[in-house]
Amino acid sequence: MQHSILIAGGTGLIGNLLSSTFEKAGHTVFILTRNKALCADEKYRWWNPDQDEISEHALEGIDVIVNLCGAGIADKPWTAKRKQELLDSRVKPANLLFKTAQKSGKIKQYISASGINCYTVNTPNQVNEEDAYGTDYLSRLVHEWEHAALQFEELCPVSLLRISAVLSEKGGALKKLKPLFKWGVGSPLGTGKQPFTWVHEKDLVHAILHISENQLAGAYNICGKTVSNKIFSQALAQSVKRWMLPVGVPSFLMKLMLGEMSEMLLNGVNTNAEKLKGTGFEFEFEEIEKALS
Ligand SMILES: NC(=O)c1ccc[n+]([C@@H]2O[C@H](COP(=O)([O-])OP(=O)(O)OC[C@H]3O[C@@H](n4cnc5c(N)ncnc54)[C@H](OP(=O)(O)O)[C@@H]3O)[C@@H](O)[C@H]2O)c1
Repeated sequence: MQHSILIAGGTGLIGNLLSSTFEKAGHTVFILTRNKALCADEKYRWWNPDQDEISEHALEGIDVIVNLCGAGIADKPWTAKRKQELLDSRVKPANLLFKTAQKSGKIKQYISASGINCYTVNTPNQVNEEDAYGTDYLSRLVHEWEHAALQFEELCPVSLLRISAVLSEKGGALKKLKPLFKWGVGSPLGTGKQPFTWVHEKDLVHAILHISENQLAGAYNICGKTVSNKIFSQALAQSVKRWMLPVGVPSFLMKLMLGEMSEMLLNGVNTNAEKLKGTGFEFEFEEIEKALS
């Protein structure tokens, strides 16, 4: 069945690729953006969730909403002000979409971006969607983000995309790390033993298409096979045909440079995507070496 899909925050890294994936599959896509200039094109619709403003026809003809909004978690140090921005840029858009969807009464599925960093970190055994939220900053952020998304359960099935670090040439972790490895100065971070969860951009958008077309409700981890930070760094060095520095960047130095944000790199979630695979989804890139090559 073909859908009319509104992607909120669809102008970013994931949104761009997702939009063309949905279109190739025969769905009609509209993008909800704060960028008024883009709205000269009828594919784009305007809103400003910070001011609680949204175009009157934002949800016109729409039956599925995908919400990818959120200020970049790794873009700026986690000061108290930045933490508020990270929260507001996720919760306020969800709240405004919910209020608007209540009036439209036509939404059949709400799909929300979320993060894999919602579990207890560095566990020896793998955690999964059945497990409780962790207690660190990112877990608490994801908890509130998902809580805002779950308001939609009053109206339709809700899907929570627990996305891991997206491997893409166009942005995210890989774009920042690859030049360092190309220059031969790449190395593991901290002890290198912490888990690293990742997903190839192609698998991510195909997983979102699968979740949408099969109306899968609930939380889904979207990740390839978890590796240690050291194995990831080795695979990245190999993919650019360079050696990796044998000594990791010391944890204290990372804490000094990045403050609390260093937690994101020095800790990791040991998890898997068995639940998603159990619904019939097949990853093209499950092994880190294949994804990076
Ligand atoms: N990329 C990753 O590795 C990764 C991993 C895990 C989770 N995620 C999550 O997946 C979602 C999409 O990721 P992405 O990499 O595509 O992010 P992105 O490139 O930064 O795009 C996010 C979009 O969100 C919108 N946005 C930003 N701040 C906003 C605000 N205050 N109010 C409303 N909209 C706002 C922007 O759209 P406009 O400027 O057009 O309004 C932007 O294009 C994010 O929520 C992110 O946290 C990403």
